[in-house]
Amino acid sequence: MKIETNQNSLQLEPKASDSFTSTGFILAAIGSSVGLGNMWKFPYITGMYGGAAFFLIFILCLALVGLPILLAEMVIGRGGRGNAVSSFHNLSKTKWWGYFGFLSVLSAFAIMGFYAVVAGWTMNYAFTSLTGNLFENPDYTASFLSFAGGNMPIFWTIITLIITCWVVAKGVAGGIEKFNKVLIPGLAVILVILMIRALTLPGAGEGVEFFLMPDFSKLTAESALVALGHAFFSLSLGMGAMLTYGAYTSKKQSLGKAAAAVAGGDLLYAFVAGLIIFPTVFSYGIAPGQGPGLAFMALPAAFAAMPLGNLFGFLFFFLLSIAALTSTVSLVEVPNAYLMERFKWSRAKSATIVTLIIFAISIPASMSMGILSDNLLFGKTFFDLLDFVASNIFLPIGGLVVTLFTGYAWKRAGEEAGLSGFWYNAWMFCLKYIAPIMVIVIFLYSIGIIKF
Ligand code: TRP
Repeated sequence: MKIETNQNSLQLEPKASDSFTSTGFILAAIGSSVGLGNMWKFPYITGMYGGAAFFLIFILCLALVGLPILLAEMVIGRGGRGNAVSSFHNLSKTKWWGYFGFLSVLSAFAIMGFYAVVAGWTMNYAFTSLTGNLFENPDYTASFLSFAGGNMPIFWTIITLIITCWVVAKGVAGGIEKFNKVLIPGLAVILVILMIRALTLPGAGEGVEFFLMPDFSKLTAESALVALGHAFFSLSLGMGAMLTYGAYTSKKQSLGKAAAAVAGGDLLYAFVAGLIIFPTVFSYGIAPGQGPGLAFMALPAAFAAMPLGNLFGFLFFFLLSIAALTSTVSLVEVPNAYLMERFKWSRAKSATIVTLIIFAISIPASMSMGILSDNLLFGKTFFDLLDFVASNIFLPIGGLVVTLFTGYAWKRAGEEAGLSGFWYNAWMFCLKYIAPIMVIVIFLYSIGIIKF
C-alpha cells in the first residue's frame, strides 16, 4: 500500500489485491486473536485463578477494555490506511504517536521470537502423536523437557516460519484471507469433534466442574490482573495487528460489528478449549494444576490412555498448530507492512527479511530451553525475557497509545467507527477513562511497581 499523506486520498479504498472482503476480514481477525493464548494458556490460568469466577472477570475485561481497544485499533488502521506507524502519521500532525507505533513493530519481533518456537512444539506433537512416538516414553514431563531442550524444535520453528512467510508473501486477498477462510471454519469443526469426545469420557463432569465452578476464594486482585492481561494478549492488542488488518478493509464494513464478532469468537474458542482440556485430563485422573505444562505434559498421558488416542492427540495438536499459524501470519504482517511501505520493498522481499530476522531471534529462544537455560538476562532466560518484555511492557504501552489517541487526540474516530449516540458515548467512556486506568494498573503491576 502507498503512503497517502493527503487527507482526501485517505478516503480511497485499498486496491482489490490489498484488501479483505468483509467476511475475510472478520475471519482473519479471529485468526489473529485465536491462538496459543486461547487453547493453551486460557485453560490453565482459568484453572489456577478461580474457574468460573475468573471466567466472569475475563468476560468483563474483554467487554470493557478489550473490545473498545480492538475497535479503536481497527478504526485507526482504516482511517489512516497505513501500517502501525504510518496510520498515526496520516491521521495526526503530532509525530509522537507514530513513534510509539514503532514499538508495535518491535513487539511483533519479540512475540514471534518465542511464539514461533511454541507453534513448532505443537507441530512436533501433532506429528509424533500420529506416528505414536509421542507415547513411547510414559514420563511425559521428562520427554517434553528433553524435546524442548534439544535441536528438533528448531526444525519445527523453521517449518512454522516458512508457512507463515509464504502466506504473508501471497498477499492480503490471495494469502492471508484465503488461509483464514479455510482454516478458521476448519478449526471450529475440529474443536467440536474434540469437545464431544472430551465430554463423553467417563468422569468428564468433574473436569467441567473444575473449569466452571466459581471459586470466589481464589479470586484475588492478581487474578483480575491476569484476566485483564490475558484479554489483551488474546485479542492480539497493543501491537498494531488489528490496526494493520483494519487498513485492508472497505469503508462499507461496519467495524463495530466486526470487533464484536472477533471478541465473541475469541471467547467462544477459549471456552470450548477449556471444555476439551479439563474433562480430558480429569477423566484420566491427571492433576490439572501443571500450569504451562498442561498441554504438553498432562494431555499426552490422557491421549495415551484413550481409545484412538493417536488420532485425538493428533487432532488436538494439529488444532493448536493451525490456531498458532493464523496468529503468526498476523504477527508477521505488522513489520512486513511497515517495511514494505517504509523501504518500498516488494511484499515477498519484505516478508522474507522479516522472517529471517525472526528466525535469528527464535534460535536463542528455543535454545533457552536447553543449553542456554543457565544464561540469564535480568534473571530470565531469553525465551522468558521476550515474553516478559513484549507482554508486560510493549503491549500495555501500545494499548495505552491507542486508547489515548482515539479517546483524546483524534476527533474523527466516531465517524470512522460509524458510531453515534449511546454506543459512541459508551465506547469513548471506556477509551478515555476505564481502559487507560486499567492498562496503567496492569503495567505497573507487571513490572513490579504495584504489589498485592
Ligand atoms: N492472540 C494470540 C493468541 O491468543 C497471541 C497474540 C498476541 C497475537 N499478540 C498478537 C497474535 C498479535 C497475532 C498478533 O494466541
